[in-house]
Amino acid sequence: MDRIRIVGGNVLHGTIPISGAKNAALPLMIASLLTDETLTLDNVPHLADVEQLIRILGNHGVDYMVNGRREGDGQSYARTIHFSAKNIVTTTAPYELVSKMRASFWVIGPLLARMGEAKVSLPGGCAIGTRPVDLFIEGLAKLGAEIDIDNGYVVTRARKGLVGNRFAFPKVSVGATHVLMMAAALAKGETVLENAAREPEIVNLADCLNAMGARISGAGTPTVTIEGVTALHGARHAVIPDRIETGTYAMAVAMTGGDVLLEGARADLLENALDVLVQAGAEITPTNSGIRVRRNGAGIAAVDVTTEPFPGFPTDLQAQFMGLMTKAKGKSRITETIFENRFMHVQELARLGAKISLAGQTAIVEGVPVLKGAPVMATDLRASVSLVIAGLAAEGETTVHRVYHLDRGFERLEEKLSHCGAVVERVSE
Ligand code: UD1
Repeated sequence: MDRIRIVGGNVLHGTIPISGAKNAALPLMIASLLTDETLTLDNVPHLADVEQLIRILGNHGVDYMVNGRREGDGQSYARTIHFSAKNIVTTTAPYELVSKMRASFWVIGPLLARMGEAKVSLPGGCAIGTRPVDLFIEGLAKLGAEIDIDNGYVVTRARKGLVGNRFAFPKVSVGATHVLMMAAALAKGETVLENAAREPEIVNLADCLNAMGARISGAGTPTVTIEGVTALHGARHAVIPDRIETGTYAMAVAMTGGDVLLEGARADLLENALDVLVQAGAEITPTNSGIRVRRNGAGIAAVDVTTEPFPGFPTDLQAQFMGLMTKAKGKSRITETIFENRFMHVQELARLGAKISLAGQTAIVEGVPVLKGAPVMATDLRASVSLVIAGLAAEGETTVHRVYHLDRGFERLEEKLSHCGAVVERVSE
């Protein structure tokens, strides 16, 4: 199994190209199930989760074609992929496939809407809490679906088609908002989703569905209205830049010091996280080509954060921010409100010398002047990259084991960082 070896202590200088967002690409790919015409997606990142979803869609009969494309100075590989779900060959998504990635559960929406039935295994995914699917079930039932849980599968039918309705989410859910938008796009009549997720990835999906002929308004606000249509057609659509990758590298620069252009990044996708970084002492300048991040000289200030649904501070940057705070001057409190059990990086950061104590859903991080390299274990996708950030600023060598977590969500991480002067390499065992 591969590991990442980091020798800490170098300042970062240069340009890091930001890839297409994993969390936008996945629902967009799933939307291809809604039409028998071709959906072409630009700027698709090359990640293990994308490849896994291609396999899952292939099981349902989706054909795909990749056009490799090299952009700009040759550092950025944005793929264009054509997806064609001309014939759906099965409406069953088996445990062996769905258990590898939680987001693949989302095929339930388009399959049910287009085919009138779906049988989808209950999901697996990152080990960050229980992550139930009750909101999907409640929402789809509101649209008239019959739903049973049978031997670990959600079995759902709507023989006469789904019917629009009003559904107020009792809790904000990104995935359930994606799924209900996709399902309602082909329902009869109007659906109104209240307390919907407002993440930029929701807007990206709604824009794509509208390009396919859907009639969705209000995406990006808490109330999304979907006027159902009888069929959707093919379209071409681009995946937005990855705001989590952007925030991660911005934190890496804040941690090591230096001056890096995050090429292609969009500041409007992560305002709150950028504000927090400015409070911590980074200089952030949005430019025409991306976001420039600098930190020269001054130490890192301790800042308290609480994770919240968008536009609040993202849970997917919580671990990385904790990595940064391990070297801050003073104490910061980091509160996780989205997922329980999302502090698994704490004990690994402690191996590098971080001082962190836990009080329920809050981590209290007392900054230390020096971190020291050590072997550490990646436990989930975002946690693993927090260890990389800490390793970049630690004295000596850090080895991050179980790198497959990183490969799920960070495209060519070691290449991007080493281009900016970090000593980071992948070691195959
Ligand atoms: C998505 C992101 C993930 C991010 C998360 C929150 C993708 C592929 N993944 O995950 O990276 O961390 O949003 O921003 O886009 N919940 C329920 N019942 C449900 C569904 C969710 O209780 O039926 C709970 C979850 O357990 C969690 C909260 O709602 O506590 C938010 O989860 P949700 O927004 O659904 O996360 P995902 O869509 O799985």
